[in-house]
Amino acid sequence: MILVTGSAGFIGSNFVLDWFAQHDEAVVSLDKLTYAGNLENLASLKNDKRHIFVQGDIGDAALVGKLLAQYRPRAVVNFAAESHVDRSIHGPEDFIRTNIVGTFHLLEEVRVYWSGLADKEKAEFRFLHVSTDEVYGSLAKDEPAFSETHRYEPNSPYSASKAASDHLVRAYHHTYGLPVLTTNCSNNYGPYHFPEKLIPLMIVNALAGKALPVYGDGQQIRDWLYVRDHCSAIRCVLEKGRPGEVYNIGGWNEKTNLEIVHTICALLDEFRPLPASHSPLPAYRSLITYVQDRPGHDRRYAIDARKIERELGWKPAETFATGIRKTVQWYLDNQSWVNRVQSGDYRNWVEKNYSGRD
Ligand code: NAD
Ligand code: DAU
Repeated sequence: MILVTGSAGFIGSNFVLDWFAQHDEAVVSLDKLTYAGNLENLASLKNDKRHIFVQGDIGDAALVGKLLAQYRPRAVVNFAAESHVDRSIHGPEDFIRTNIVGTFHLLEEVRVYWSGLADKEKAEFRFLHVSTDEVYGSLAKDEPAFSETHRYEPNSPYSASKAASDHLVRAYHHTYGLPVLTTNCSNNYGPYHFPEKLIPLMIVNALAGKALPVYGDGQQIRDWLYVRDHCSAIRCVLEKGRPGEVYNIGGWNEKTNLEIVHTICALLDEFRPLPASHSPLPAYRSLITYVQDRPGHDRRYAIDARKIERELGWKPAETFATGIRKTVQWYLDNQSWVNRVQSGDYRNWVEKNYSGRD
């Protein structure tokens, strides 16, 4: 079996659901269930004997050690993290605690467990650390996309904490020989994406007739990948990746934020048109509102995904046009999921992040 951390979050839950669509191998899920963790994402596995869910912290060394000893996984896939840049600006501490200190405790327990394995299991064991393109910093408009050897230049407390965790993972390989794999992926989108992030926030706000808050001039560029393509890339790296190596994952889909918002508005105009009486215009784009920029906002991310394609034969299945259509449709079909995650805590966050912006 494998141990998956952060499995009740956006990418982790997509990964576990997809895993069982491809495998029968059991999964032990470890998730702290922070505001971003939602067991409802895994509801379809409730009576599935292949899946064991444990609520807990990757920084709880005793718990992690116990789970490793009890279930003896052949691999650990680490998604657990604080993941939202804006939250890291308002309060970096949780990011340091989970992304750096938590990853350290997880690594340390894994090292002890791995050291005690028999030679064959030891050689076959993998620790796959899921990281981000944000560790590489920001690109100018005409700079080449991030390759695996690009210098680390993190700019936000979030990306700095992820960069630190990547360095720890690297050091555990270099120093102790732990068979680690690191993946650095671009922006994901798709089902179960928490509506604090750009794409789901724009969809749910538009459907509620609320402002669509675009930071600064909206010309920042992100490189978007449908979440199930990220999951297939992780499975591919887990199966075929070389220990100690880093693989960048991306879909070659660079878009400005404004293009993203316009695309979402156009899809909603098609799927759920506003009445002709809507003021000021019967189109969702009339809700676009420019607000004060994110401090230290990275201008452009872009992933050079040639290594994973060349060495492991991975390619994304979705284009942006097909993936964003599926995503908007998913939010239209799952409004009760959205209503449930928009709890009191969610409303407090919206007040905190957006009320201070012009
Ligand atoms: P998310 O915020 O939706 O989910 C994170 C999950 O981790 C939640 O279920 C949360 O409860 C859990 N968690 C948080 N702290 C924990 C702790 N101390 N112990 C155990 N569980 C804990 O995040 P996501 O978007 O699914 O991202 C998953 C991983 O992928 C993160 O490591 C992130 O840095 C990385 N990543 C995300 C993207 C993206 O676009 N979302 C892109 C590249 C990489
Ligand atoms: O690049 C990978 C990263 O992508 C992941 O490591 C992070 O976990 C994930 O959250 C994401 O980070 P971003 O900061 O790029 O994503 P976010 O959805 O927060 O913002 C995307 C862009 O949209 C960014 O330029 C900021 C902008 N934005 C965001 C929000 C929430 C807005 O203009 N308005 C908004 O209200």
